[in-house]
Amino acid sequence: MGKLNDLFTESINTPETFWAEAARGIEWNKTWDKILDNSRPPFSQWFAGATLNTCYNAVDRHVAQGRGAQTAIIYDSPVTDTIRKISYAELQDQVARFAGVLQGQGVSKGDTVIIYMPMIPEAAVAMLACARIGAVHSVVFGGFAANELALRIDHAQPKVLVTASGAIEGKKILAYKPLVDRAIELSSHQPEHCIVFQRDFVQAELRPGRDLDWQALASAASPVDCVSVAATDPLYILYTSGTTGMPKGVMRDNGGHAVALHWSMKNIYDIDAGDVFWSASDVGWVVGHSYIVYGPLLKGATTIIYEGKPIGTPDAGAFWRVISEHRVKALFTAPTAFRAIKKEDPQGELIKKYDLSSFEALYLAGERLDPDTYHWACGLLQIPVIDHWWQTETGWAIVANCRGIEEMPVKAGSPTRPVPGFDVRVLDNEGKEAPAGQEGNIVIKLPLPPGTLATLWRNEERFVKSYMTAFPGYYETSDGGYIDKDGYVFVMGRMDDVINIAGHRLSTGAMEEVISTHQDIAECAVIGVDDQLKGQQPVGLFVLKAGVERDPEEIKTELVKMVREAIGPIACFRQSSPVARLPKTRSGKILRGTMRSIANGKEYRMPSTIDDSTSLDEINTTLKGMGYPR
Ligand code: COA
Ligand code: AMP
Repeated sequence: MGKLNDLFTESINTPETFWAEAARGIEWNKTWDKILDNSRPPFSQWFAGATLNTCYNAVDRHVAQGRGAQTAIIYDSPVTDTIRKISYAELQDQVARFAGVLQGQGVSKGDTVIIYMPMIPEAAVAMLACARIGAVHSVVFGGFAANELALRIDHAQPKVLVTASGAIEGKKILAYKPLVDRAIELSSHQPEHCIVFQRDFVQAELRPGRDLDWQALASAASPVDCVSVAATDPLYILYTSGTTGMPKGVMRDNGGHAVALHWSMKNIYDIDAGDVFWSASDVGWVVGHSYIVYGPLLKGATTIIYEGKPIGTPDAGAFWRVISEHRVKALFTAPTAFRAIKKEDPQGELIKKYDLSSFEALYLAGERLDPDTYHWACGLLQIPVIDHWWQTETGWAIVANCRGIEEMPVKAGSPTRPVPGFDVRVLDNEGKEAPAGQEGNIVIKLPLPPGTLATLWRNEERFVKSYMTAFPGYYETSDGGYIDKDGYVFVMGRMDDVINIAGHRLSTGAMEEVISTHQDIAECAVIGVDDQLKGQQPVGLFVLKAGVERDPEEIKTELVKMVREAIGPIACFRQSSPVARLPKTRSGKILRGTMRSIANGKEYRMPSTIDDSTSLDEINTTLKGMGYPR
């Protein structure tokens, strides 16, 4: 473990030297005055004084270095029966023209642009075009409803919204435009223009004056060049679920982000320029930002934009087909995808049809990798299966088996050891460091390395309160777990009301806010229960207002509809039940953690502050009636 240990120690003891070396992987217009500016704690600024352009580094420089003919993006869409390859030179042309389109609509440095797109190359083109002119993009995942999009429009205040006419989700055709129209109706901020990429299978109606046709604009636009931005200028805002209905707008800068992602491609994923890297996620999530778009392109690798599912498009052999057809070297996805494949094809019969000789490693993240899925994937693939732990906030892996530096032995259930740059500790609730093996709050000692969140967009106060206050001097991850005597980190789950459904991060608090607006409901709690396929699923428990005598089945159906309409289908809210009362502390705090333990069959201690211990009996019976614990 010599090399990894040395690098890790250097990254913690002398971060400036470590990251100055890593920064050589990026082309700067001007180098920094200060590598790490810590003059305003708890904020850290990396590469202060430097200037660069992220799009130049991800696209143009590969063309300038003579690799314009190499494939940058493979668009593989089983749902539309399309495979399209885009070279770096073609990507440069498309991005430069779309940057011209944005500029033509008045978008310039510092303006925000919301991108609400399915998994098509134009989503990446739009993101890179923003980066090219210094505009700040905010990509919103397509599975969110109009209301969630409206929240983000109001907060990000985009000058322009970029979308597509629709998507095919599995076998369903989804029209995006009615949803976008509704979101703009709901929001107080009005984007000046909406640029729509029309797809063959669904035509969007364009509102004269506001809506513009992508294809028409792009064919008439002149390409524009990259502008120089400060390393500390914002590249993007990505909203992620917090504990309330208002998501957190994670802000990523340009310089630190480019350095960290470029470094991670080789050192974590062992990917070089020219290799094919596939991240089967969605551009709407952080994995899509970092490892479908920016990471692989900054490295000069080939990335795959896959518009399909692990199963059903057309079968559970879909991943093996893509890997063999495009000679994929490494795949990154969520454990749920593997659980879905395992459910359909437990013996792995379909894999036998494909040549997977190019495939060197599987990377999994987004939720806990349970040992069963880990062992199944190892047995099936006979290649390294790497669990790694990270968050939207960090933008890249906190804990991973850094194969590009030195491969470590795996302990099932642990993503291995902290990545260079991340000083991971476990603290008890009083802020004292926990001994090896003892569970507590996983935190990261400041400063966070480059590429992590710089702040929350237009909300420094929430940034400080959410992440930097509970344990002064440390970033609070809100994950619980422990570090064993060999330094392996075990991440056991969130300590807050954020849940992970199929690798997607959602807030039970946001669901509660929706449910509590139901006219017949006095109060409610939504808890995450363990699920064999999706990791977790939400379950709602609600108390009816006095005198309400409606059929609870009707109310339950209404709640499903409400959550679907307010948050989106991705919340997967399907199960709820009425209860006479919710268990609470004497000060009125709902005991969600205790209910979660009951639902998941975990041991729990009767909280000493409970108001009325018999309230838990009803919860036990109700959850049992719903089939929990499973
Ligand atoms: N746009 C619109 N709707 C979407 C969507 C999108 N981009 N993505 C999902 N949805 C909808 C689905 O259609 C489904 O709607 P329904 O209730 O009408 O059926 C709902 O949101 C839930 O979707 P999902 O969780 O994907 O469930 P599923 O049953 O359709 O598929 C899996 C199950 C396991 C195949 C799927 O969850 C999966 O591929 N998981 C991999 C996870 C992953 O890649 N995570 C990325 C983070 S790294
Ligand atoms: P997101 O911000 O959507 O990437 O979700 C981040 C959360 O997902 C983390 O805080 C963890 O709770 C969970 N998570 C991500 N990767 C892992 C992993 N490898 N092991 C355990 N939990 C994970």
